Amino acid sequence: MFLGAPGAGKGTQAKQVAERGAATGAPIAHISTGDMLRAQVSAGTELGRQAKGFMDQGQLVPDAVIIAMVQQRIGEPDAKSGWILDGFPRTLPQAEALDESLGDSTPLSAVIYFAVPEAELVGRLTGRRTCAKCGAIWHVTNKPTKVAGVCDLDGGELTQRSDDREEAIRERLDVYRSQTEPLLSYYRNRELLREIDASRSPAVVFEELLKLMQ
Ligand code: AP5
Repeated sequence: MFLGAPGAGKGTQAKQVAERGAATGAPIAHISTGDMLRAQVSAGTELGRQAKGFMDQGQLVPDAVIIAMVQQRIGEPDAKSGWILDGFPRTLPQAEALDESLGDSTPLSAVIYFAVPEAELVGRLTGRRTCAKCGAIWHVTNKPTKVAGVCDLDGGELTQRSDDREEAIRERLDVYRSQTEPLLSYYRNRELLREIDASRSPAVVFEELLKLMQ
C-alpha cells in the first residue's frame, strides 16, 4: 500500500513499479482509486457524476462507494499475483473494511509512506499534467515533456486535473491531515509502516522503493 499526501508521488512510482513488474515477469496490479473514479467520470456513469462533485471540491467520496469499488477490483484476475493500493484506504473505516476483506488469506505485506514536506506539495500539484491518452504523469518544471502540452510517449494531449486548482488543493491537504494521516499510526502500531523520503528525485525514490519492496 502506498500512503502519502496528495502530490507525494504515489501515482508516479506505482506506475513505474507496475511497468517494471510487467517487463520482468512479476506482474503487479496498480490499483488507484483516484484513476478508477476519473474513469467513471469520463465514462459519464452515475457513480462518476456523483463522485465528480466531491472530487472537484477536494473532498472524499463516501466510504461505502469506495469500499465496494475496491473490494470488487482486488478480486479481478490481474490482481491475483499481487497489487499496489494507491490512494486507498484514506479513512479509518476504509482501513478496517480492507482488513476485513483481506482476512488472514492475503495479508498486507507493507505500507509505504511517501514523506514530502507540505511546502513542496502545492507546486507539484499545480504543475502536474497528465496525458489524456495513456495517463502518463508529467510536470511543467520537474518532469517536462519535449514539446509543451504534448506527451513524449504517444503524442497525446496533456490535461490538468480539475482538482489541481489551488483552492481544491488546500482542501485536499486539510482532508489528508484530518482523515488520512491518522492511518500512519494505525499501520505503525501493526509494524507494517515503512517510510521513504519522497522529496528526492523520482529516480532516487524509485531505486529505494524497489529495494524496500524486494
Ligand atoms: P487521487 O487521484 O488519489 O489523488 P491524491 O491522493 O490527491 O494523490 P495525487 O494523485 O494528487 O498525488 P500522487 O501522490 O499520486 O502524486 P503524483 O505521482 O501524481 O484522488 C483524487 C480524488 O479522488 C480525491 O481527492 C477524492 O475526492 C477521490 N478519492 C480517491 N480515492 C479515494 C478514497 N480512497 N476515498 C475517498 N475518496 C477518494 O505526482 C504529483 C506531481 O508531482 C506530478 O506532476 C509528478 O510529475 C510530480 N512528482 C512526482 N514525484 C516527484 C518527485 N520525486 N520530485 C518532483 N516532482 C515529483
